[in-house]
Amino acid sequence: MRFQAPRGTEDVLPVDSHKWRRLESEFVRCVDLFGYQEIRTPTFEDAQLFLRTAGETSDVVSKQMYDFFDKGDRHIALKAEGTAPAMRAMIEHGLLQAGTVHRIFYNTPVFRYERPQKGRLREHHQVGIELIGSSAVEADAEVIAIAVQFYERLGLADFELRINSIGRSECRDKYRAAILEFCQPWLANQEAEARAKAEANPLRLLDSKDPELQKFMAHAPSIQDYLEPECAQRFESLQRLLSDDGIQFQVDSRIVRGLDYYTETVFELQIESIGAQSAIGGGGRYDGLIGQLGGPPIPSVGFGIGIERALLALESKGIVWERGLTGVFVASAGESHVASARRIAGQLRGAGIPALYDFEGRSLKSQLKQADKLGFRYVAILGDEESATGTVSLRDLSTSTQSSVGVDELLGALLS
Ligand code: HAM
Repeated sequence: MRFQAPRGTEDVLPVDSHKWRRLESEFVRCVDLFGYQEIRTPTFEDAQLFLRTAGETSDVVSKQMYDFFDKGDRHIALKAEGTAPAMRAMIEHGLLQAGTVHRIFYNTPVFRYERPQKGRLREHHQVGIELIGSSAVEADAEVIAIAVQFYERLGLADFELRINSIGRSECRDKYRAAILEFCQPWLANQEAEARAKAEANPLRLLDSKDPELQKFMAHAPSIQDYLEPECAQRFESLQRLLSDDGIQFQVDSRIVRGLDYYTETVFELQIESIGAQSAIGGGGRYDGLIGQLGGPPIPSVGFGIGIERALLALESKGIVWERGLTGVFVASAGESHVASARRIAGQLRGAGIPALYDFEGRSLKSQLKQADKLGFRYVAILGDEESATGTVSLRDLSTSTQSSVGVDELLGALLS
């Protein structure tokens, strides 16, 4: 029997892994500039963590959670998103006190039982940040600016930043009632299940992918008209800060997000060129989540960016990251030179230079081919002539030039 990767999962193969490493290190460099520190949490959690925070009516919980009972009869779920586990850990380790601001980041697999398609996986990976402990609007602006700067660092320019405020719970209660009333003519023709779902969480009608419903919702009332004056002012201040930072955005009142813990600011980064699953990042403020988990009432804001979608976006814009050439392949023209090749490769590694040599008795031609395929910058060739003169023929594959270098001078030549 031949096994395949489970449906909705992807292998990252050696030819592509350098792209992941580059993206991840660009992310770390970007968040380092703002003083964020890494947190790592387990791949699975008590299922209640997600049930309580993401919302029982959210798709993530109601349809997509990978949950099971373990051998000790505990209800476990694979990580369905990154924020609640990070907050669970901060509370558990007593790190949260009112008045202290924490900045954390993570890089984590996320599991959702979705219908797989391009850019929509059952296991995907997210890099994300959480700014914990501030209700200042500057915190929202900082988090959004980091998401934008990250993509700019990658060389991506034409994504859209869509922002919205969904207000505090008072604003949303009034707005939910208004949306439900507006949707009555549409809901009257729906199955009981769809009606029940809409009644449980009317806001989800706004970001439905159903084209008929989308058409109907085009004239729906806007949350902007239901914001309390304080929330409306806060949203205006955020827009001013983003404009001051030279960040382009659109206010989009249909951005409501798929997780129930958000309050006030929500945002998404989208790019058309990767198809229907166009969200390449999203986040917002979640002032009630830590309290819901039994922690102090600490306001926070953050985002998550899908690594697979970020890489798709780069590819769709023709941004190609070549694997950098490094190191030396020490090739031997004949079996009698293998021992010297082994010794030289060891010396190179000792000096911090990646090096390989061939012990399979391949022809010189196939060793050269292999060096090229593996991404080596240099090939040091050892043959009878080189051996007689105490030299190697050093070929630079990046420039296709070759020179004769004394074995004793090899390190110096490579390190200069
Ligand atoms: P989310 O919008 O569910 O938010 O996911 C964040 C990002 O992960 C999306 O914008 C997308 O790029 C990627 N993503 C989501 N689902 C999939 C999937 N099935 N396949 C591939 N990529 C996917 C959150 O998870 C929040 N925890 C973000 C956050 C952090 N909010 C506040 N802090």
